[in-house]
Amino acid sequence: MKRLIVVFAALCVLAGCSQNSEMDRYINRLMDGMTLEQKIGQLNLHSASGFISAARVTEEDENVKLLKAGELGGLYGSGDVEYLRKIQEIALESGAGIPLITGMDVIHGCETVFPIPLALSTSWNMELIEKTARVAATEASAKGINWVFSPMVDICRDARWGRIAEGGGEDPFLGGEIAKAMVYGYQGRDAEYADDEVMTCVKHYALYGGAEAGRDYNSVFLSRQEALNGYLRPYQQAAYAGAGSYMSSFNEFEGIPATMNPYLMDELLRKDWGFDGFIVSDATAILEEVAHGIGDLQEVSARSLQAGLDMDMNSDGFVGTLKKSLAEGRVSEADIDRACRRILEAKYKLGLFEDPFRYLNPDRAATDVYTPENLAFAREVSHECQVLLKNDGVLPLKKGTRVAVVGPLAKDATSMAGMWATSSHNSECFTLFDGIAEVTPATYAEGSWLMKDKDLEEGIRFGMMRMFMPGFKAPAIHTVSQQQLIAEAVSNARRADVVIACVGEISTMNGEGASRTDISIPDAQQELLKALKATGKPVVMVLVTGRPLTLGWEEENMNAILNVWSQGSEGGRAVADVLFGDANPSAKLTTSFPRSVGQLPLYYNHKNTGRPHPDYEPYRKFTSCYMDELNGPLYPFGYGLSYTTYEYGPMELSATEMPLGGSVTASVTVSNTGSRDGDEVVQLYIHDIYASSTRPVQELKGFRKVHIAAGESVKVEFTLTAEELSFYNHELDWVCEPGEFEIMIGPNCRDIQTSILTVL
Ligand code: NOJ
Repeated sequence: MKRLIVVFAALCVLAGCSQNSEMDRYINRLMDGMTLEQKIGQLNLHSASGFISAARVTEEDENVKLLKAGELGGLYGSGDVEYLRKIQEIALESGAGIPLITGMDVIHGCETVFPIPLALSTSWNMELIEKTARVAATEASAKGINWVFSPMVDICRDARWGRIAEGGGEDPFLGGEIAKAMVYGYQGRDAEYADDEVMTCVKHYALYGGAEAGRDYNSVFLSRQEALNGYLRPYQQAAYAGAGSYMSSFNEFEGIPATMNPYLMDELLRKDWGFDGFIVSDATAILEEVAHGIGDLQEVSARSLQAGLDMDMNSDGFVGTLKKSLAEGRVSEADIDRACRRILEAKYKLGLFEDPFRYLNPDRAATDVYTPENLAFAREVSHECQVLLKNDGVLPLKKGTRVAVVGPLAKDATSMAGMWATSSHNSECFTLFDGIAEVTPATYAEGSWLMKDKDLEEGIRFGMMRMFMPGFKAPAIHTVSQQQLIAEAVSNARRADVVIACVGEISTMNGEGASRTDISIPDAQQELLKALKATGKPVVMVLVTGRPLTLGWEEENMNAILNVWSQGSEGGRAVADVLFGDANPSAKLTTSFPRSVGQLPLYYNHKNTGRPHPDYEPYRKFTSCYMDELNGPLYPFGYGLSYTTYEYGPMELSATEMPLGGSVTASVTVSNTGSRDGDEVVQLYIHDIYASSTRPVQELKGFRKVHIAAGESVKVEFTLTAEELSFYNHELDWVCEPGEFEIMIGPNCRDIQTSILTVL
């Protein structure tokens, strides 16, 4: 039997080898017949003409010209099968006849829009997250897309950064689990790509979320050790899950822009983590290295290539300068061949040489996209992505309750879609008002402006359109006075049993280029909330946001706060399901919610300092704290309420000592003590008490989302080994150091119970 297994294993290895060598042989042959220009052309990626919107192929189309000159390896930004088919035909007829790889920013769903990534992460449900990526892959591949610019796995500790909305929050362990789930969802779990699976592009590599002061594109100042321990795990886990490509980020690390950083790309990603795919720059990132102060376009292009970058998105640095650099001995032919080979390998793996039209099937475009099944699934997903931050008992509401729905976010479909939703159905997203009005008598009033600063509001609402749509005429805003809007809302409120105030950020306040220094609910909407409070009616605040906001006044004065982020296609309906009790909220925060912006960066897994100060105690001189604010967040990492209640029994460790190579089980019995069935996210944290380097006060190392029927109990178990207790030491080795560890279990990072485990 043993011999049989050995023979079988050897055959499998051989099969793998022969597949690889088949690919190698194919690509060798192909490259032998390619000119230098054609090879460099493969390294060039452009956005489709009319990025996002449908485009027609014309002779003047810049991409057509590039294709005919053999100067384009890929195109991104179009999901128009007809257009892409024509472009692919031109690619096959030109130069070396190599098919294009076709990319798209499919971030949280494709035509069916799912909750924004930060919201998705609050589900803590990896199966669900994987399935959203699976559905997105099916839809994307039906639209001619074979490569998605997702998952975005940047860890972020600073809510001022607008792109916090695009990622999975502040924790590297959870981020790593999400990264794997997304890669599996898009690409499948085996090495082959099926017709409805697409290649992922993990971004933004690396450390983009560490932007200083939360200002987008800003410098990152992190030690390698802190980067490895606190930020890099999600990128690493994505590589282990088999991610096909990575996108380099805009920021610098250790004084070298990430797009030309040999440590990040070649040493860490390729050598240490074994990644064997290709790396594309972010849009114009090579060109931006000039502004970073590294050199002219020729210099930065050469350095980027040599550092391990393979494809240039929108800088024309590679097509524009590499030939010259080769002639001058600045780069070698081997450098160019290496990058070209990696891109051809990706196309080979996607099956594009076998069938360049594999993903360009107009029938699928008509049948597999935005289906009733996908929309129904989106609604289910949304149920798990709404965080109940406060509830004095007003929720769930009874159907039939007369509600006044007010606020500038109540009828805003595109803000339900959220940032980076490229679906042509964005404006059909179910609004909060529509969802609520389906189940109960409801009135509507806009209630307030988005914000008082009209110029700023215009810039936020229409800035993108003004940039990309020549001749765009912005509709007038602030046409009705703020007083009048508030008066209408108050009058509706007085005639209702309950007020539902839909406030927060519109989608263009999140995502790229959307940093804020004031992360409160905008001033005009705060005025509305105060006026509603003054009516004496119960006010349920439904918060639309892409980042943690400072909600001190709201926590004190609102009867309930349901944070719904941007929920996607079925958002309004799914929110109504939660408000009226058809779904029981179970989401938990994956980012700390600060009390004030001055606390930022704020994250639960911080270090202790030599003069630690308890999170919830007031100012004391000569300890590490603020005079005017507590250290602790308003809502901690892992926090979220339910319509039922849970009681945690005592934590048990199967042993209090563990040999380095052994394992220990930590368990807890959780009881649903309320009257409704629910899903609870049970969390396990550790703290290495003494280590050769300082360690965070808490680190998430396990979580389980369990369904517990009312009145029932469930025993939840976590296995701990040296792996969960390891960290990157000062020498950057991944080690578990013997000694004492605190093991913590709880419903969030604050309300925990602790036991001591000694590793021998
Ligand atoms: C810039 C963004 O940073 C990145 O996330 C996106 O994928 C590219 N543009 C392409 O649209």
